[in-house]
Amino acid sequence: MYDGDIASVLITEEAVREKTAELAEQVGKDYADSCTGTNDLLLVGVLKGAVMFMTDLARALPLPVQLEFMAVSSYGSATSSSGVVRILKDLDTPIEGRNILIVEDIVDSGLTLQYLLRTLEARGPASLEVCALLTKPERRTVDLPTRYIGFEIPDKFAIGYGLDHAERFRNLPFVAALSPA
Ligand code: IMP
Ligand code: MG
Repeated sequence: MYDGDIASVLITEEAVREKTAELAEQVGKDYADSCTGTNDLLLVGVLKGAVMFMTDLARALPLPVQLEFMAVSSYGSATSSSGVVRILKDLDTPIEGRNILIVEDIVDSGLTLQYLLRTLEARGPASLEVCALLTKPERRTVDLPTRYIGFEIPDKFAIGYGLDHAERFRNLPFVAALSPA
């Protein structure tokens, strides 16, 4: 599947699974005291890239959670974001007083996440944190409070496990580097 498009495997399927379990255990511990009664933790997944990670993380979490999704688009070139972000799909629910965990596939420049954090913070959540599967430290242009990070990867264009290039490769069960065209 997708032979010829994959330069190398960056994160194997097994490594993704193990890391997701680790992150879920940590999140479970951290929120055990604050998400009690009916105040479930609210996972906010960023469409479409975070879908695979979000669903696996949610199933690995040892506490009740609710799921919401947002869709954003950045006005930029295909492979780098400009920091100007537009909300294509907003949350279906108010988040005032809620514990919010933004679930992202990858933090690249950090500009998308910076915008999301500002936007959601303005709605008065009880807490607001980020859980991202991947990050490219070399590409970061803004400093962000990313509490949970799965893996640091080199500055290569990543595909698979939700990440796309021109909408392809999202269903790969591992993360790979895209072959140069
Ligand atoms: P940022 O605003 O530069 O941090 O970019 C964030 C978004 O760009 C991510 O949520 C991804 O959807 C996309 N993105 C950034 N790097 C990659 C990559 O290597 N592969 C696929 N998508 C990426
Ligand atoms: Mg994304």
